[in-house]
Amino acid sequence: MTTTTTDRILNFSAGPATLPEPVLRQAQSDLWNIANSGIGICEHSHRGPVFDNVLKEAVADCRAVGTIPDDFEILFLQGGATLQFAMLAMNFLGEGEVANYLNTGVWTTKSIKEAKKIGNVNIAFEGSACNFDHCPADDEIHLVDDASYLHYCTNNTIYGTRFVNVPSSNAPIICDMSSDIFSRAIDWSKFDMVYAGAQKNLGPSGTVLVIIRKSMLEKCPDTLPVTLNYSAIAAKGSRLNTPPTFGIYLMGQVFKWILEEGGLQEIEARNEHKADIIYHALDSNSDFYTTFARDCCRSRMNISFKTKAPEFDALFLEESATQGMSGLKGHRDLGGLRASVYNAFPVEGCERFAEFLKTFAAAH
Ligand SMILES: Cc1ncc(COP(=O)(O)O)c(C=O)c1O
Repeated sequence: MTTTTTDRILNFSAGPATLPEPVLRQAQSDLWNIANSGIGICEHSHRGPVFDNVLKEAVADCRAVGTIPDDFEILFLQGGATLQFAMLAMNFLGEGEVANYLNTGVWTTKSIKEAKKIGNVNIAFEGSACNFDHCPADDEIHLVDDASYLHYCTNNTIYGTRFVNVPSSNAPIICDMSSDIFSRAIDWSKFDMVYAGAQKNLGPSGTVLVIIRKSMLEKCPDTLPVTLNYSAIAAKGSRLNTPPTFGIYLMGQVFKWILEEGGLQEIEARNEHKADIIYHALDSNSDFYTTFARDCCRSRMNISFKTKAPEFDALFLEESATQGMSGLKGHRDLGGLRASVYNAFPVEGCERFAEFLKTFAAAH
């Protein structure tokens, strides 16, 4: 399977976002009739043998893609990454305890707001003072001792910043990887729980992937409703109630695609190359374009930038649309422009976009 573009336009949306073309073609077929069962994937019982196999393969392929050790549980949940903001605090921020949070953008601000409804939060880094233009180095982070966990977000989708390294912490690390999961290798010795809304690098919106160290599950309070309790969900292998069967199926197909493309090593190298192509076009026209993130932590997934004047931003959107490019408007909180180039976004799309950046700057 290779990534090709056909009659589809270049979709730079931040999420839901471009999915691998071979995956979509397989899904078209499996929606009608999966595994020669005469029934489509959305019509199969979540307890029947066809879905048993879909789930088993999705877990196994996820483990293979991420090189996830056996002492981690892989869970498929619902409610988006936003439900995780509350749920992780409900499970791991007990009464009288405190958790460290790094505030690096809009999504972490929301996660902090939710956690504060459950318990005590120490904001160990507050990025709003510098307009969220970077992710902090260890010497900018002020952790409290004996915290229940440290929560942060590896890639800030709106500002286009990312952590290059995992921050130091004595407490367990819980991480929102919604916009860069499986875009690069993950050092599992450093994380205790990772979660990601599916709609950027994994599959359809609504489904969430949670990868959690088994020892963390012992801490989940029995008093929680079962649908909010990681341990209860893990005990039922993500099938405590009817799971998002299509979302799990599609994620499973994306895992297979990553493996066929050469795994995370190849995907990471490709992502570096893709982002380089675009940053190079922006940097070599720096009298016309300004990038948002500091150089130290430029995202490989979301490239936020603006032209020299807002009227050119508007014109940029208009002219790029005529070239078959969409989804380039910046987030409403930041303005400007943003190109999201997740795993499935093709290299040739980045090349075409770089050409457009150069031509647009020269013309205006
Ligand atoms: C980093 C990050 N975290 C959380 C979310 C929220 O995800 P959801 O809409 O699935 O709740 C997003 C959405 O774009 C995101 O980019």
